[in-house]
Amino acid sequence: MVIKNVNLETVCGITSTLPDNPFPEFAFAGKSNVGKSSLINGIMNRKNYARTSQEPGKTQTINYYNINNEFYLVDLPGYGFARVPEKVKEQWGKMIENYLHTSKQLLRVFLLIDIRHEPSANDVQMYKWIVHQGFQPVIIATKADKIKPSQREKHLNMLRNGLGLPDEIKIFPYSALSKEGRQEIYDFMDELLTE
Ligand code: GTP
Ligand code: MG
Repeated sequence: MVIKNVNLETVCGITSTLPDNPFPEFAFAGKSNVGKSSLINGIMNRKNYARTSQEPGKTQTINYYNINNEFYLVDLPGYGFARVPEKVKEQWGKMIENYLHTSKQLLRVFLLIDIRHEPSANDVQMYKWIVHQGFQPVIIATKADKIKPSQREKHLNMLRNGLGLPDEIKIFPYSALSKEGRQEIYDFMDELLTE
């Protein structure tokens, strides 16, 4: 995969109508602060084009990045962010649900889980929701640089068991620092785009 052009083409808030895009979409879901925007930057090969933050709750809209006029990366707001009022959380939840439910071009949903931690009830719910909507989730274990290589297998098994993943669903470990895992994600996307 060669990234030629990236363009933040559409930003949708809770009252926006979602765009009817001409190219396939890859969406990125996961809890606040798990590294969705960082992964999107890694894929786009840009430093901070998708805005990231140490504070959870940075991405509050659905952001569509047009890549090469070939496909879109869709950055979703994170869930499970405690400091947001209940009402706003509900609206973000509805926005994500509505996106998964209505996007005609959605090819795959990447579900990001922090490699260090047991998946939360929200993660499990999101995983089930993605499957329920008829999509095959792609699991990314983020922040892979935060654990020792000797611990990796154990943590990947923890994620697999916590989500109840069937064997055929792969987990891609990824590090935004070293970009480890990026080539595997490129290859995976290339394969889907040329099918
Ligand atoms: P929201 O937009 O709030 O939902 O968060 P997000 O999922 O988009 O997370 P974001 O990409 O903004 O990253 C959150 C924090 O984690 C930032 O401080 C990133 O630098 C850090 N981070 C993301 N990925 C990695 C990684 O692979 N390794 C390390 N060490 N830090 C990471
Ligand atoms: Mg973000």
